[in-house]
Amino acid sequence: MSDLAAKAASLDARDPLAKHRELFALDDGVVYLDGNSLGALPRHVPGRMADVITREWGELRIRSWDESGWWTAPERIGDRIAPLVGAAPGQVVVGDSTSVNVFKALVGAVRLAGDDRDEIVVDATTFPTDGYIAESAARLTGRRLVAAAPGDVAGTVGPRTAAALVNHVDYRTGRLHDLPGITAAVHAAGALAVWDLCHSAGALPVGLDAHGVDLAVGCTYKYLNGGPGAPAYLYVAERHQARFDSPLPGWNSHADPFAMTPGYAAAEGAVRGRVGTPDILSMLALEAALDVWDGVPIEAVRAKSLALTDFFLECVRTYVPEGRVTPVTPGAHHERGSQVALSCPEASAVMKELIARGVVGDLRRPDVLRFGFTPLYVSFADTERAARVLAEVLG
Ligand SMILES: Cc1ncc(COP(=O)(O)O)c(C=O)c1O
Repeated sequence: MSDLAAKAASLDARDPLAKHRELFALDDGVVYLDGNSLGALPRHVPGRMADVITREWGELRIRSWDESGWWTAPERIGDRIAPLVGAAPGQVVVGDSTSVNVFKALVGAVRLAGDDRDEIVVDATTFPTDGYIAESAARLTGRRLVAAAPGDVAGTVGPRTAAALVNHVDYRTGRLHDLPGITAAVHAAGALAVWDLCHSAGALPVGLDAHGVDLAVGCTYKYLNGGPGAPAYLYVAERHQARFDSPLPGWNSHADPFAMTPGYAAAEGAVRGRVGTPDILSMLALEAALDVWDGVPIEAVRAKSLALTDFFLECVRTYVPEGRVTPVTPGAHHERGSQVALSCPEASAVMKELIARGVVGDLRRPDVLRFGFTPLYVSFADTERAARVLAEVLG
């Protein structure tokens, strides 16, 4: 056994989260490092979904909206996600895609900021959908869009800024941005901070309430393991809820939806972030998937995530010949999310070969190899094997 394989075995033996791996369907011998794109399937979800489909839908049919709790699922599941992102209950609602929630959050933030603020600041390095939607939101609300890298947001916001939309972790590089510092700077300018948590929720502590974030969105199919296309979520801080004016005021967000009145009256609380009929099958798969978090402190997840990514970088340094890959993920812990991105000129061919050899990561064109570390099910042995196979492929 090599030194690093022995080190992996010893780290796995001392890992307090090691037993969580058994909760996931990962029996195929593959090293799965793509949980930052699509989380693995928790073993109990198919059984739960069989019951939802055969009994709740097949037998109870329409009665399930009440009797199986379908109608209240968006807020109920929002309250399950809330502790994972540091939010008190009543502020998170699940539904729609992240893209749709970016639209609700950003237009809602601009409306909260008031008419005398005519700029929206958007993360220049954002996942593209946020940028596209921010551009449209700016046109719709008559604001000017200003792009700034997260590190420059503090110096960009000013008296004209209505809101700043920033990604917590960069999807490409895995860089973690300074949510507390940027939020404070945005507030000092009198504007609202809107965060995209897709690559941080379920991987590290977010602290939405503690840091005074105004609005936030995130997906549930990555580190929250909700399944392909699982619904996203919207956080509106309690202090803003009474004035939150959704740009998509569908009937599910009405104070009395079944009154079917022609005039709109917004519901109180997180419900105001709903739009139309929820995607119940996906939503209930997500609800079941969240069971794997019972009793798991997010701080323990973060500690293991940093240990895994440190160890992966160490294995890559040891195994991979000098100059073949260059880490683009920061070395400093306070700047690192839960993925390691390596630039590599032959990234596309290399990832194809890695997958063929049972190490599944992904690729961001043209030259970034991405390896996501999901602390609930990735082991140190997986991590060592991934770096070793990468070295073989590159060798
Ligand atoms: C940071 C970020 N924002 C938004 C999205 C897009 O989300 P959706 O497809 O749910 O709209 C993604 C998808 O990977 C993402 O990584």
